[in-house]
Amino acid sequence: MINFKKQLKNIQNYVPGKPIEEVKRELKLKAEIFKLASNENPLGPSPKALKVVKDSLNQINFYPDDNNFYLKKRLSEKLKVKEEMLILGNGSVEIINSIIFSFTEKKDRVLRPSPSFIMFKISSLINGCKIVEIPHKNFKNDVSSIVNAIKKSKFKIVYLDNPNNPLGSMIFEDELKYLLRNVPSDTLVLLDEAYNDYMDDRLRIDSTKFLKKYKNLIILRTFSKIYGLAGLRIGYGVANGEIVSVLQKVRLPFNVNLLAQKAALAAIDDYKHLKESKKLNDKGIKFLTENLKKMGFFVIDSYTNFVTFDCGCDSKVIFEKLQKKGVIVRPIDNYGLKTFLRVTTSTERGNKIFVEKLKEVLDEVR
Ligand SMILES: Cc1ncc(COP(=O)(O)O)c(C=O)c1O
Repeated sequence: MINFKKQLKNIQNYVPGKPIEEVKRELKLKAEIFKLASNENPLGPSPKALKVVKDSLNQINFYPDDNNFYLKKRLSEKLKVKEEMLILGNGSVEIINSIIFSFTEKKDRVLRPSPSFIMFKISSLINGCKIVEIPHKNFKNDVSSIVNAIKKSKFKIVYLDNPNNPLGSMIFEDELKYLLRNVPSDTLVLLDEAYNDYMDDRLRIDSTKFLKKYKNLIILRTFSKIYGLAGLRIGYGVANGEIVSVLQKVRLPFNVNLLAQKAALAAIDDYKHLKESKKLNDKGIKFLTENLKKMGFFVIDSYTNFVTFDCGCDSKVIFEKLQKKGVIVRPIDNYGLKTFLRVTTSTERGNKIFVEKLKEVLDEVR
């Protein structure tokens, strides 16, 4: 056996939600399957993005624009930041990985709330960092404990997903400001805003306004969620130009494919699709939260496109039984929450079917 890096020995692979086809094959299911496991947009991609993808298929013999010229131009107008402050990635996970790879040395300390999006943890371990985990308080990122930890010792990166995955909870603007004020300028703040577009307008933080003052802030966003382009893999980071120029060094050439660039550019301005997606999600969150509460479950208030609840028993049992009935949800035992399930909002029909099937499963196990 050829030796590999020691730190890879104990790393758990990222566990993605299973594709529908695989579940169908494995369980020999014939009926319709509802995948409510990966926080994807149930409405599908933006029709404008779809059209541009179809119209561009005959160009895939060409390499894509390595500089993402048009997309950067549009993002820079929309976010009111300079183009040199933008970095595009093969999904925002690629940028998380590049940040840890570029800015940490082995044994550097990084901080993450626990639980939070697992890819920050996996990338940190791959790069040999020492991870300090700050538990949530009342199922929410605990900013004062994070600040206390920062005051006590030195960190290279502080990661914060807002809203949080897998809990769906959020921190408010005053908490974010408090955090930013207390992070030393040589510690990076990695603010992952994958679910930003699902937040209520009154609560959504326009965090780009902090970039002028805080040169150590990196904001991540994605086209995988409300824009409905998860399958094309495209996300972006916004940060000080010096940070971005470092990330550009490690970025692989042509990391964002041609169809993804074109689709993202079309989807950004498809306000009809965005509005419909948000409306459907708002309804879905309300429907799922109310019904789960009626069934007696503890449900975490969600600011995302998923609802996380305590099913009061081994969540894998409920997950497997639901899967056999054609509904795929996500147990989050890998985040240390063995009795919790995460369910992504679906179409109205999908949400109803989930509730129906969950009731059937509860009758079987109770
Ligand atoms: C908090 C958070 N960040 C990042 C991502 C990954 O997004 P992308 O598809 O852009 O890699 C996810 C995906 O679920 C997420 O929940």
